[in-house]
Amino acid sequence: MLKIAPSILSADFTALGDQVRAVEQAGAEFLHIDVMDGHFVPNLTIGPLVVQALRPLSGMVFDVHLMIENPDRYINDFIDAGADIITVHVEACPHLHRTLQMIKQAGKQAGLSFNPATQPSGLDYVLPLLDLVLVMTVNPGFGGQKFIPQMLSKIRQLSRYIKEHKPAVWLEVDGGINTDTARSVTEAGANVLVAGSAVFGTTDPAAAVQAIREAANS
Ligand code: DX5
Ligand code: ZN
Repeated sequence: MLKIAPSILSADFTALGDQVRAVEQAGAEFLHIDVMDGHFVPNLTIGPLVVQALRPLSGMVFDVHLMIENPDRYINDFIDAGADIITVHVEACPHLHRTLQMIKQAGKQAGLSFNPATQPSGLDYVLPLLDLVLVMTVNPGFGGQKFIPQMLSKIRQLSRYIKEHKPAVWLEVDGGINTDTARSVTEAGANVLVAGSAVFGTTDPAAAVQAIREAANS
C-alpha cells in the first residue's frame, strides 16, 4: 500500500503544528523529518526538539531522515523525541551494521539511504536489520530540486531485490516528487513517496497530498 510522506523541510515553520495536522487529516501516513548537520550536507535543519514538540500533535509515523555524519551520536536522542523510523546514509556510516543494530535494539524501524551517485550494494549483509530503503532522487541538502530520472533504474533494481529477499521492506523515494513524477516512481516499484515543496510549497497542503496520491495511483 502506497504511503505519502510530506517533508516538513518546506513547511511554514511559523505554523508547523497546523501544517502537520492538515497533512495528517488529508491521509498522509508518514511525516518525513529532514535532519541536516552542515557537514554531510551543506545545510542545517531540524533537531530532536522539533520532533519532540510535534510528537503529541500527531499519530503519523515519524520518518526521520538523518543526513548527518556520525549518526550514532544522535540516534537515541531522536528515538527519545518520538521517531518511529530512523534512516541513515550508507555514505555516512563506516560501521553501518552497528548503526542499524542500535536502531533495532531500541525497538524502532531502520532505514538505509543511498545518494544519487551511490551504487545500492551491500544490502545482503544488513537486510535482516532493515525496514526501509531510501533512494535519493535528488542530491540531499535542499528542498525544491529537480528529480533525477536516472534514479528510476535504481528504484527498479531495488524493487526487484526487495521483492525477492524481504518484501516487507519499504522502498522510499525522496526528492523532486510531485504530480508529474509520482507515477514514474510507483511504476518503478517505490511505495513511500516523500514530497516537500510539492506539498508545503502550495497554498493547500492537504489537497496536494491527495493530488500526489492520485497521480501515483493513476
Ligand atoms: C532533500 C530532503 C528531502 C526534501 C525533499 O535533501 O531529503 O526530503 O525535503 O524536498 P522536495 O520534495 O521539495 O524535493
Ligand atoms: Zn528527506
